[in-house]
Amino acid sequence: MNMLLVALHVTTCRNLYQTLGYSIDANKSYWILLEYVNGQALDDFLSHRRHTLQLSNLLHIAIQVLYGLRQIHQLHYVHMDMKMNNCMIEEDANHGFHVKVIDYDLAQPQNTTLRCWRTDDRLAKGWWLPPEICPARTTTGKLHTSQQKFTVKPSIDIYCFYWILMDLLCGAETAAKVARQSIRDVSNFPTYFTGFLSSLRQSGMVTQADILESLQLSIHHDPCLRPSADGLIDILEKFKNKVDLAHMPQ
Ligand SMILES: Nc1ncnc2c1ncn2[C@@H]1O[C@H](COP(=O)(O)OP(=O)(O)O)[C@@H](O)[C@H]1O
Ligand SMILES: [Mg+2]
Repeated sequence: MNMLLVALHVTTCRNLYQTLGYSIDANKSYWILLEYVNGQALDDFLSHRRHTLQLSNLLHIAIQVLYGLRQIHQLHYVHMDMKMNNCMIEEDANHGFHVKVIDYDLAQPQNTTLRCWRTDDRLAKGWWLPPEICPARTTTGKLHTSQQKFTVKPSIDIYCFYWILMDLLCGAETAAKVARQSIRDVSNFPTYFTGFLSSLRQSGMVTQADILESLQLSIHHDPCLRPSADGLIDILEKFKNKVDLAHMPQ
């Protein structure tokens, strides 16, 4: 039984789907009744709507993902599968966007110790996963078959969230390209990022280098140096305020 879903039965967060009920049947199978999210996965939504969204809308979406994550972390869980496809977006009658983080299949209590995923594991294929989970991806061609372990920490979700943010700001292709580069070039963390910064600036979406540089800590290979969901909310809310002020009629 996924205890995070049980915890969400009694907790309300507008950016997580709600557990409406759960039970166990005669065969000892668990059944969970979830709130229906009347929307689309974020990747599908963006593929149709990206050109209609402004930077402020994109930041609003990213901040709502973080509100959901913050709640999961406050419940002492880690989502472990943060990606665009596990965020859904509903649009209300006023064309407001409402994000819900879904899919807690892989969620784990914080501080659990797990065996690292091997590169040939189905789950380890994701380029958006942090190096502590899949250390083998960070060295060319060398598989770690050892019993290496990692501790489940919120910083895992933060690393994955960073690529959601990059996908929102500069498109899935650029985000994936840079992420792959970062995996190959683990010893050279600051260098690969410089190229990414300039492609972001060229995209015209983001010009505040200081903001980008504080965000980049989210993918630091040392998990302890990554910001918390709260820290990122603070940065992105300030960023959004600046963007909104710049677009206010004089
Ligand atoms: N509560 C829900 N309301 C509406 N659609 C949902 C809900 N839960 C899942 N879905 C749809 O089903 C898809 C797969 O669900 P998910 O929980 O992510 O399972 P999986 O582990 O297969 O990825 C989602 O991308 C979404 O389109
Ligand atoms: Mg899913």
